[in-house]
Amino acid sequence: MARIAPSILSADFACLGSDIDRIAAEADLLHVDVMDGHFVPNLTIGPPVVAAINNHTDLFLDCHLMMTNPGEYLGAFAKAGADSCSVHVEIDGVDDLITEMRGLGLGVGLAVNPETPLEAVLPYLDRIDMLLIMTVHPGFGGQHFMGEVVDKVRRAAAALRGCTHQVALEVDGGIDTDTVREVARAGADTFVAGSAIFGHADPLAAAKALREAATAAIS
Ligand code: DX5
Ligand code: ZN
Repeated sequence: MARIAPSILSADFACLGSDIDRIAAEADLLHVDVMDGHFVPNLTIGPPVVAAINNHTDLFLDCHLMMTNPGEYLGAFAKAGADSCSVHVEIDGVDDLITEMRGLGLGVGLAVNPETPLEAVLPYLDRIDMLLIMTVHPGFGGQHFMGEVVDKVRRAAAALRGCTHQVALEVDGGIDTDTVREVARAGADTFVAGSAIFGHADPLAAAKALREAATAAIS
């Protein structure tokens, strides 16, 4: 089943509550991009905004932590109402971070940048709930989908089929009604989209169109 995760990075932060309400009926998760100005050259939001979103909506809060030191903030994100956090495999201490997220009751996600080989995440697959494959270089919305990552998605899907428990396969970056078909066919099941949804005149219809395109590609 295709799951749609609208990324609020492309929403209007001055009207965040109403922008979330507009897409809620077609959102399986709400993707929250947290950037620290260090792991990526951009700054976004942190636990206080996650808490405000959590007070506003019942949607599952899928927090993508583009941070060098997420361990310092995991407790704050859990307290703020994050449902899952994804940390990047490129940083130090992934093993301990997975243990900590699990201990805090968070869903455990592991994210991997386009240039990082799939092999980097393989040792952790049995301990995570979601693998997040970046299909752009993280840091900004509205970038072009990197088609060269599709093969990694395909190999990741094959690796996840060998896991003893179900692990979601999320893709993030440049996802639109064309590219969603490619990654869905390659085995992704969870699709993050920012500009393709919030940059559209009718964000709810755009989210629905993404779901239909992904579902058609899988079936
Ligand atoms: C990029 C973020 C993405 C971003 C995707 O670093 O991780 O979640 O919001 O935006 P689009 O869908 O516009 O590429
Ligand atoms: Zn993201």
